Amino acid sequence: MKSIILIGYMGAGKTTIGHALAKNLGVQFYDLDWYIEMRFHKTVAQIFEERGEEGFREIERNMLHEVAEFENVIISCGGGTPCFFDNIDYMNSLCDTIYLKASAEVLAAHLKMGKVVRPLILGKSEEELTDYIQGMLDQREPYYMKAKHIINVDLLNSREKVADSVRVLREATGI
Ligand code: S3P
Repeated sequence: MKSIILIGYMGAGKTTIGHALAKNLGVQFYDLDWYIEMRFHKTVAQIFEERGEEGFREIERNMLHEVAEFENVIISCGGGTPCFFDNIDYMNSLCDTIYLKASAEVLAAHLKMGKVVRPLILGKSEEELTDYIQGMLDQREPYYMKAKHIINVDLLNSREKVADSVRVLREATGI
């Protein structure tokens, strides 16, 4: 099996779905943000603070190159990973890529409920967040849409979301 990389905006469920998919397939799971944090002994927020976004993107690319070399794994990457350098083409050349596509409204609602500190969206109200995310999706979708498979996760809800996603992902990738 080729490794599978999940891409999509923050709050689309890449980590949750990736974890469940890996368990279901009996393979190892890597979350790129966690991998970066483990290798650098710092949170993503700290790296942004110390090195700025540019510094973070360089680290992210280098770490992507490490994990994408692993065989037979599921990887969830950061929301911005496919949109910098030639990252999306690189991912497509080695792995199966899946875009978890969600609307700005659904993403904003998920992010408001979440507890993870995300430096790019700190301090925004849900309404501001929806507008901000819509702007980001407009910029990022040209990259996201280069994924080999696209799944609309807006249609999947609550507890069935993970189970449905696993089924859809299996069908999409033929695994
Ligand atoms: C980012 C998404 C985050 C993390 C960083 C930047 C982005 O990952 O990599 O805060 O640019 O969208 P998640 O999508 O896993 O939250």
